[in-house]
Amino acid sequence: MHSTSILGFFGGLLLSLPTAYAGFSSSSSTNVAVYWGQNSYGQGTGSLAQQRLSYYCANSDFNIIPLAFLITIADPSLNFANAGNNCTAISGSNLFSCPQLEEDIATCQSTYGKTILLSVGGSTYTEGGFSTSAAAVSAATNIWSIFGPNTGANVPRPFGDSVIDGFDFDFESTVSNMPAFANQLRSLMTTSTASTGKQYLLTAAPQCPYPDSADNPMLAGTVSFDAIWVQFYNNYCGLNSYVSGTTTQNNFNFATWDNWAKTVSLNPNVKVFLGIPGNTGAAGSGYESGSTLASIIAYSKTFSSFGGVMIWDMSQVYANSGFLASVASDLGQAAATTTTGTVVKTTTTATTLSTVTTKSSTTTTTSSAVSTTTGTVNQWNQCGGEGWTGGTVCVAPYVCTYLSVWYSQCE
Ligand SMILES: *[C@@H]1O[C@H](CO)[C@@H](O)[C@H](O)[C@H]1NC(C)=O
Repeated sequence: MHSTSILGFFGGLLLSLPTAYAGFSSSSSTNVAVYWGQNSYGQGTGSLAQQRLSYYCANSDFNIIPLAFLITIADPSLNFANAGNNCTAISGSNLFSCPQLEEDIATCQSTYGKTILLSVGGSTYTEGGFSTSAAAVSAATNIWSIFGPNTGANVPRPFGDSVIDGFDFDFESTVSNMPAFANQLRSLMTTSTASTGKQYLLTAAPQCPYPDSADNPMLAGTVSFDAIWVQFYNNYCGLNSYVSGTTTQNNFNFATWDNWAKTVSLNPNVKVFLGIPGNTGAAGSGYESGSTLASIIAYSKTFSSFGGVMIWDMSQVYANSGFLASVASDLGQAAATTTTGTVVKTTTTATTLSTVTTKSSTTTTTSSAVSTTTGTVNQWNQCGGEGWTGGTVCVAPYVCTYLSVWYSQCE
């Protein structure tokens, strides 16, 4: 986040200029995204209950907030846990109006340089996508009219005149025709950027087993993503499988996702984030802290696609004192402060939160039974391809299967 956040900052000051990439920087490896909206730590009251969005935005240890979640798309509806209590129903729709969020999104963007995304899906999403690509395109157009710039059209506007910085996809069950949906959003965002200058992002949160079953149709070279944050938790390929002191990881598979970025992704400059739980109870497995987490972050940073850390979620990381600051420090971003004239703006972006409970709790055990025999490669992990120096023998009964000159995996 460095220069772009400064641009975003001044864009916010000079109201005539659009804020561009308020926080996320595609040239930085110290971005930190923290999900807000699910209150996954689970406190109903008190300081550890999820607070309104603006409560968190002064914290310079992170720069991206995906709002979780838009839980239905065809007939759009939102769920922000206890924050929904501060919203009121919009008649004629299943959406609610959230004046506090309208205010806080603007404050977080213009005062604190945060990138605010709307995350679509979540583990409770059950619509299964769309029956046709035409239905997907029309739904995307509708979602854009609701959450994109306010054109004065007669549509519900949960965030009023505030405009998010893009969309995040977090699907955890099979969804159909999602590339058409994502590409229509991308197209509408690009058109809008051409007239207003405001930049928009598309991101996704696949789970670490490669390829991600739910999001793969979008990740298979069909949709241009700016970043993906891989959920390295609740699975055999998560942080808990990281082996210190070796560049060839058997199960922890950041290398596989780096390879995806370079050889499969439609956008070869896509950033891959290390998605982590923000607290012990934030995920079924995969929570790491201290020197272990520092070592995993250092290892992940050796890959050129590395863009930073994603944490599930805000409530969990705020209940885990010191964790967010330690992530920021692990990323190697000392709290930088840029002084420009009389204006002081912190440009630090770190990583702090995390807890992943709601996102992936349904997929926790996917592959935990897979053997971790040293020297052999587990199901869905890379076992060959040009430049590959890791293991080439799959754990029984899997077979190393050629997918491209760049990539073979155990299936
Ligand atoms: C709900 O509104 C109250 C009163 O303004 C505020 O203190 C609280 O933080 C809000 N809660 C959430 C979760 O947004």
